[in-house]
Amino acid sequence: MSAKPRVETGVAGLDKMLSGGFVQGTANLVRGAPGTGKTVLALQFLLHGVECGEPGLLISFEEFPQSLQNDAQSLGWDLHPWQERGLLHLYFTSPQVLLKSLEAPAGPLSDLFIEKNIKRVVLDSVTHFTRLTNDQLQLRHIYNRLINALKREGVTALLLAEEGRMETQRAERGALSFVVDTIMLLRYVEVESAIQRAITVIKMRSSDHIKEIRRYEIRKGGLAVTVPFEGRESILTGISHRVGR
Ligand SMILES: Nc1ncnc2c1ncn2[C@@H]1O[C@H](COP(=O)(O)OP(=O)(O)OP(=O)(O)O)[C@@H](O)[C@H]1O
Ligand SMILES: [Mg+2]
Repeated sequence: MSAKPRVETGVAGLDKMLSGGFVQGTANLVRGAPGTGKTVLALQFLLHGVECGEPGLLISFEEFPQSLQNDAQSLGWDLHPWQERGLLHLYFTSPQVLLKSLEAPAGPLSDLFIEKNIKRVVLDSVTHFTRLTNDQLQLRHIYNRLINALKREGVTALLLAEEGRMETQRAERGALSFVVDTIMLLRYVEVESAIQRAITVIKMRSSDHIKEIRRYEIRKGGLAVTVPFEGRESILTGISHRVGR
């Protein structure tokens, strides 16, 4: 059996960590606190797709298309030409409506997937599904339905999740971690009284991946993954220290 093709994220350093990119047709989760760059990564993933001729769809539960376009502009990206060419679609909806239309045989979203030949999908953010129920088992069932629906469409999905200590965020973590194929973490790290950014891949099904924690920066052009945090410990706790200290 030949290996499934890879879908590059568009962040060269992250693709290296993922042994070439996401596996085609999988559901991939990125988790991070506010401002860590989840939406930036998502836009980069979609723009890399359209540049390779793969139509993309960003489904947002919190940011209107105009606000996304402004975010993109500050990073040096113009979304309009891709939207006009029918390669990039921004869709604002609610978790309830999304689930319903993904599961309806001829809902507006299923039509969009087929008509526009969507290959890459982003959900910003899946933490919003926790509003649908207080029951952990029920939530796991909802996430299963969501991911099965995305897999039926054959798309490669990037799911964004809010990291934090709130009850809803903990509920998402418990219910979703098991059903996604890949989990990446974006973290703020304190190093010598300055805040740096760290990225790591903690799970990748049916593939090898680099287990290091690497630095990344956000600049015009998006995320840039650089070097590992050599000689430091406790990076994922947010407050690192030198090895041996
Ligand atoms: N042009 C830019 N140059 C440098 N950094 C930028 C630029 N534009 C945005 N950023 C950085 O990106 C961060 C915002 O990233 P993003 O909106 O992707 O975060 P997020 O993880 O989606 O946050 P939230 O959970 O609040 O949606 C800002 O905090 C800022 O530090
Ligand atoms: Mg965001």
